[in-house]
Amino acid sequence: MSASASRPGVRRAGSADPDGVLAVQILSAMMLPVLVLNAENGFRHANPAAEEFLGISVVQLKQINLADLLPADHPLFMLISHVRQAGVTVSDHDLNLQSPRLAKRGISVQASPLPEEEGAVIMVFQDTSGVRALDRQLAFRGAVRSVSGMAAILAHEVKNPLSGIRGAAQLLEASVGPSDRELATLIQDEVDRIRDLVDRMEMFDEKPIECRPVNIHRVLEHVRKLAQSGFAANIRFTEVYDPSLPPVSANRDQLVQVLLNLVKNAAEAISASDNPHGEIILSTAYQHGVRLALPGSRTRVDLPLLVIVRDNGPGIAEDILPHLFEPFVTSKSFGSGLGLALVAKIIGDHGGLAEVQSRPGRTEFHLHLPMALDDDPSS
Ligand SMILES: Nc1ncnc2c1ncn2[C@@H]1O[C@H](COP(=O)(O)OP(=O)(O)OP(=O)(O)O)[C@@H](O)[C@H]1O
Ligand SMILES: [Mg+2]
Repeated sequence: MSASASRPGVRRAGSADPDGVLAVQILSAMMLPVLVLNAENGFRHANPAAEEFLGISVVQLKQINLADLLPADHPLFMLISHVRQAGVTVSDHDLNLQSPRLAKRGISVQASPLPEEEGAVIMVFQDTSGVRALDRQLAFRGAVRSVSGMAAILAHEVKNPLSGIRGAAQLLEASVGPSDRELATLIQDEVDRIRDLVDRMEMFDEKPIECRPVNIHRVLEHVRKLAQSGFAANIRFTEVYDPSLPPVSANRDQLVQVLLNLVKNAAEAISASDNPHGEIILSTAYQHGVRLALPGSRTRVDLPLLVIVRDNGPGIAEDILPHLFEPFVTSKSFGSGLGLALVAKIIGDHGGLAEVQSRPGRTEFHLHLPMALDDDPSS
């Protein structure tokens, strides 16, 4: 909890008071949820963002009390009484607003006294779960950079000699008997596996990407077809697309790569669970209010485009969940653990954000992406 001595200059709204009308209009236009409580913690006002945030209309809110939404020992009550007693603005971060009627995690709140009305408190909420996910994503960048450095060394020290080894094994295969031929094939297969691994690591290079307006639904459609004609042939796909979604600002081939990795993981999880009703749901939506700073710059971009890849597999093992986007984290005997690290890197390079939520029967990867601007070169 942090406190500051600032006092808000919000004036009471009244129809005869043009400033008051303006204040109400400003509150209505705000994307952040704003709530005003009276001295008894009854709801006096809620802007549309707050109605959406709580899932309760302003008319209903005015008939209830904060105590009807949260348990009496919730830390928010202590914060509010501190605001009233000290007459200062107080903020708290990472609150959980958890009750039978509310399910919000990772919320920041800033509460201030309303000077014109005894005991009234104005609260502004912010969902900071995305910000924390960004912190985690930024922490992966160091690890990703070390992969790109290692890939350069491996390409030089390992990949070049590998072609010699493969060539020699091919020559041997032609001149030895059937039992040794099998060994020669094995050498070639293993060499191919190592080369593929180094190739995947080389994708972590730090080249700048070229973004263009991309129709995300066409990309998803392409990935679905690729998956269904190969590794996900027995899995049902459902597409839930928002047809009015504007183009995303992205590198199309890299987006294909990201979505293929996510869909492949989903298919592998379903197959490992022997679920005969395996399903992958691809969905898109427009979402207000997600804003992040571009990597390496102070410019903030909106990330209104949301792409979700969801599966009904067994869920992600709890022990790897906190490190999921780091390189070489895998639970598969055949996995390299590079798929999701690459997803985090590519989405980060786009100025976007990748998040995951998982429980048995429902795993969702969320990609928050920027919208293409009108002056982006068209594809
Ligand atoms: N949809 C999912 N359901 C369950 N577990 C998942 C899912 N997606 C990822 N995982 C877990 O996350 C781990 C890391 O995934 P990642 O794609 O980075 O590597 P991988 O699939 O093991 O190997 P590869 O480099 O071949 O992709 C997986 O090994 C798996 O345990
Ligand atoms: Mg994978």
